[in-house]
This record gives sequence, C-alpha cells and structure tokens, in this order.
Amino acid sequence: MNTAALTPTLTPLTARRGGPLQGRIRVPGDKSISHRALILAAMTVGESTVAGLLEGDDVLNTAAAMRALGARLERSPDGLWRIHGVGVGGFAQPSAPLDFGNSGTGCRLAIGAVAGCPIVATFDGDASLRKRPMRRVLDPIERMGARVVEQAEGGRLPLTLQGATDPMPIEYESPVPSAQLKSAVLLAGLAAPGETTVIEEEATRDHTERLMKHFGAKIVSKPHGEHGRRITLQGQPELEPARVVVPADPSSAAFPMVGALIVPGSDVTFEAVMTNPLRTGLFLTLREMGAKIETLATRDDGGEEVADLRVTTSQLKGVVVPPERAPAMIDEYLILGVAAAFAEGTTRMRGLKELRVKESDRLEATADMLRVNGVAVEIEGDDLIVHGKGGVPGGGEVKTHMDHRIAMSALMMGLASAEPVRIDDSAFIATSFPGFVELMRGLGADLS
Ligand code: S3P
Repeated sequence: MNTAALTPTLTPLTARRGGPLQGRIRVPGDKSISHRALILAAMTVGESTVAGLLEGDDVLNTAAAMRALGARLERSPDGLWRIHGVGVGGFAQPSAPLDFGNSGTGCRLAIGAVAGCPIVATFDGDASLRKRPMRRVLDPIERMGARVVEQAEGGRLPLTLQGATDPMPIEYESPVPSAQLKSAVLLAGLAAPGETTVIEEEATRDHTERLMKHFGAKIVSKPHGEHGRRITLQGQPELEPARVVVPADPSSAAFPMVGALIVPGSDVTFEAVMTNPLRTGLFLTLREMGAKIETLATRDDGGEEVADLRVTTSQLKGVVVPPERAPAMIDEYLILGVAAAFAEGTTRMRGLKELRVKESDRLEATADMLRVNGVAVEIEGDDLIVHGKGGVPGGGEVKTHMDHRIAMSALMMGLASAEPVRIDDSAFIATSFPGFVELMRGLGADLS
C-alpha cells in the first residue's frame, strides 16, 4: 500500500516574539458575503459581477459547485468575477459530487439552493466537514419537499439529495442560532411559491437577507422576542443581476487586530473593515476589555457599513462575555481566548455550545491551545474561562485539527508569548485568509 498517499503532508509554522506590528492593511473580502454573492448570482438570470471576492479555498469550492450546477463564472485578471446565472430553480444536475472541501457554509447554503430544484446532487467535503452535522439543514428542506437519497451516519457527508419538484414554503422556527441554517431555508424558499418564514430566537448574521434584497427579492425582517428576528421571503422572485462589492472580513481582521493589541509598541490601521453589528461582537468585547480600537472613518460599501480602524497595543482586563453575544462573534472565541490570556484577570465566555460543531470542536481546541502554552483555562458546561496573567509562557505545539482559525490564533499568541509557539499545520489558513503569513510578515511578525 502507498502510505505516502494516505499521510497528508503537514506544513508546520512557528511564531516568535519580535518587534512591534506596524502598518496599514486591508484584509481579504468577507467569507460569508463571498459565498452568498456567488450562490445568489448563480440563481439570477443575466450577468452579475462581484468585486473583492475572497479567493480562499472555501469560496473557490463554492464557485466550482456553482459551475457544476450550470452557472458560468469567469474571473478577469483584475479580480472582478462575472457570473451568468441560471435563474431560481434552474440548476442543472451535476455530473460528479460537489466537493465543498473544509466549508460548512458553502455546503449548507448550496444544499438549500439545490433543495428547490428538481435535480439529484451529491455533496461531499474533507475529513473535517464530513464530521459536521448536516441534519440541521436537512430537516427543514425535507419539509419543503426535498428528499435525502443517501447519507453517511447521523446525516453527515457524503450525502445525496433529490431536490423538490414542487417546493413548498414553510414557517420554520430555527432550533439553533445558525445563519447557515437560516440561509439554507431562505435559499430553498426562493423556489417555493408564497411566503417562507424563518424565526430565530437569536439574531444571526443577516448577509443573506441583505443580498437577497440587493438581487431584487422581497424579504422583510422584523424583531422577534428579546434578541431574535422573524424573516419572511416572497418566493419565486425574478432575481435581477446585480453588482456586489465584498467588504473586508471582520473575522479575518480579528487576528492581526489581537496581534496588535498584545505585541508591545504596535500600531496597525485596518482599512474598510465591515462593521455589521451582527458580526462585530469581538470588537465590542475587546473595547470592554480596554482595547484601544479607534474608528477613523465610516462609510457604506455595497450595502454594508465599513470602518477604518486604528489599533494600538493595550493593557487588557478580564470580562464576562454574555451568551446572547455569541452569534455576533461565533468565529472569534479562539482569538478572544488569546486576548484573554494576555489580559489581567479572568474572562468568562458564556454559552458556547455551537463552538463544538465548527471546523473542529473549538471549545476544547481553544482550551487545549491555551493550556499547552501555560495558560490556566477551564470549561464549565458551555462556558470557557480563561485566567489571564498579563502574559503567556508559550513554548507549546498547537494541534490545528484542519481548522484555519486555530492556526491563526495560535500564531498571534506566539508573537507575544515568552517562548515561541509552533503549529503543526498552517495549510488550512488558505481556506479563509490567503496571504495571511505574508501580510503578517509585512507588519513585522516573525513567522517561520
Ligand atoms: C456563517 C455562519 C456561522 C459561522 C461560519 C459562517 C455564515 O456558522 O460560524 O463561519 O456565513 O453563515 P453557523 O451558521 O453554523 O453558526
């Protein structure tokens, strides 16, 4: 047997304490908006354009899936993407399984989009994605008329879906705060006649709603309960081609931002970071911890508010992060764990159940990443507690579990800890933040 073919080659990387981080940067386009822009453009008749698309592996897999479903996608040398869509309900049956690599978002959104088309498609992904729950999106789309033909145990990938011939609209109370789940139902609802409604107890990122409106759908969002929303979509719209400008991803900015806060003498300006309040729970939390994050200018960029932010090294203090903030910073707890370790005092992050089903079990992974580097951490139920001592010993090797955000968080920690921090594999950073290592080196980071 050829074992070399079975053993993936790992690309370790080490971060060391060095000089300050200084400079002006623009991080790549937002991942959530990039996936949605491609999928919605593919469901529109005519040519749409997307500027500033994140060209990370996750989004490129979604682009490949849209091609396999019959849309035409071209990239000009200047980075503008042109998409000729096939219309709502118009996807063609793909001739091979759709491979979403590492991306839960790409896969779950595409499942929703395919659910309203009378085609059979197989969805698959890498070893990390094959472990993640898909049942949450299959339940509502089955109610809408789609049928799961084959699935791996527990509703996991690979799975084969028969889309609905006559999709039915539903009113769906989302059992988990998940923008992916909400979006899958709304995307399936595009092909159904009448009104599809999603009710969420906790408001999650609303890029699908904003972009559907941008492409001409009628969709209305109303407050529901204390923190939730009721979203109603009119089905079978004629989506109109549109121009989408993707703003810089706050979830990517989070890494160099925390780097700048913890590395002494740093001063970094971030250009045009999206500040949608359903995405910026981390910025709020860091400010509560005493972070100096100055808003230099704000403006509207393609339907989302963006801001230039200046971040300088700050003495942080421990805080309690309330559970209702989780949806607005769900991808940021790893890097918040790093900030908390450099703070003085205890930080308690409450209500992190959903972290267990991300690219890895991020609740355990955050605790492990900090522990192997000498930080005192506890998990109590769904809470993570980090005892900050104003500094981190470091010296540990962090297992990244095919999770880009573990990799980038651990590297930021190593830039300020007493001893270097090594990660076992940096390859997955390319799923969401191509050029991360070069960009950090440009700011002065010692990564080798
Ligand atoms: C995303 C939603 C979140 C987030 C993911 C991107 C999206 O997942 O963790 O990185 O674009 O809708 P859940 O919807 O599963 O919480």
